[in-house]
Amino acid sequence: MQWSFAEVTEKENFYGNSNPLELVEEYGSPLYVYNERILRERCRELKNLVSYPNFVVNYSAKANTNLELLKVVKEEGLQVDAMSPGEIFIELKAGFEPEEILYISNNVSAEELQYAIDAGVMVSVDSLSQLELFGQTNEGGEVAIRFNPGVGAGHHEKVVTGGKKTKFGVDPRYIDDIKEILNKYNLRLIGINQHIGSLFMEGDSYIEGIKSVLDIASNFDDLEFVDFGGGFGIPYHKQDGQERLDLAQLGERLDKVLRAWVAEYGKEITFKIEPGRYIVAECGVLLGQAYSTKVNYDRKYVGSDLGFNVLMRPMLYESHHDVEIYSKEDRASDKKEEVLIVGNICESGDIIAKNRVLPEILEGDIIGILDAGAYGYVMSSNYNQRLRPAEVLIKEDGEDILVRRRDILEDLMRNYEF
Ligand code: LLP
Repeated sequence: MQWSFAEVTEKENFYGNSNPLELVEEYGSPLYVYNERILRERCRELKNLVSYPNFVVNYSAKANTNLELLKVVKEEGLQVDAMSPGEIFIELKAGFEPEEILYISNNVSAEELQYAIDAGVMVSVDSLSQLELFGQTNEGGEVAIRFNPGVGAGHHEKVVTGGKKTKFGVDPRYIDDIKEILNKYNLRLIGINQHIGSLFMEGDSYIEGIKSVLDIASNFDDLEFVDFGGGFGIPYHKQDGQERLDLAQLGERLDKVLRAWVAEYGKEITFKIEPGRYIVAECGVLLGQAYSTKVNYDRKYVGSDLGFNVLMRPMLYESHHDVEIYSKEDRASDKKEEVLIVGNICESGDIIAKNRVLPEILEGDIIGILDAGAYGYVMSSNYNQRLRPAEVLIKEDGEDILVRRRDILEDLMRNYEF
């Protein structure tokens, strides 16, 4: 590489023995690149969040279900949650035992429920009617329930999952009705869970949510676990010096709340958290290539292969991702300019980075979209019949390996073969 605007990845030695230009040359563009060392670090940080002994980190695999990443997470001793039979299926393939999976179901059919039950996976239901369904198909079974304690948080209204205006969880007003259904079908409620929303950078709302769900938990005397959900934020504005979430402080606060509650409840139950983004966001960079530049009515556009088919977050939530630039050519000047980096999808909302002041991007430059490991590939699509990118893992020894191949055109025909 001759030139780069790449402070964040250089500091981390993100690309190991390779560099973005070589990776794109070898595996094509666009390309998801993951760093194993960073993934392991994040797993360990959360495993050590509290000193309370019965503490489990359930990785929320919806953020990134790449098989090799799941295997690393498993090796680090985390468990997983699942949001669909597909996630259960891939988690089992990655080597998780059924009892290490918590299926957090939401509005599912009897067949779907049965798939989890038959696989030996613990199910959490999300409404009274789904509890009924569970009872009808699995009388005498063990079950968990997701509550909505009325507290919500999140980086965008679309990702606030707790609170009085969301579809999730059971309103605690119905605790008596729950007990009735549990009795009717001889069910044992062994766990309760919640998830208030995604991406908090200070712990107040999380702690508040925990206190409310623990209040709810006190109504049931046979619990084995309470799961507080995910939402742990990461600094998407690293280039502006954004601070990290203070895990040490959060862990201390959490420890106090947990120990006090356990003393009252009289049983050292298991507490779980369910982070997705925190585990995988920062171990992933999305690489793409600049193919054109132009000025349209005073706005400068950098045209790339980074369409919203590859990374939806900016289009869907106006999310910010820091941008790096890597070049084969030395830069003659250090001029900066305001640009929009856009993709190749036939929609005007196809903007991955809006009004950014960046060093001049030239055709042929490689563009790195940082913190793209969570909700990146999993939300990608074949819209416009574009091919989903390959995924590469930088191993701990710095070597790069392909962990999922790029779609090929024939993949677009696969489901017509019947
Ligand atoms: N548990 C449950 C029940 C959830 O619904 C979620 C995320 C998580 C755990 C993990 O949340 P995390 O720790 O990753 O914040 N696509 C959006 C995020 C949607 C999250 C939905 N639920 C994004 O790209 O920001």
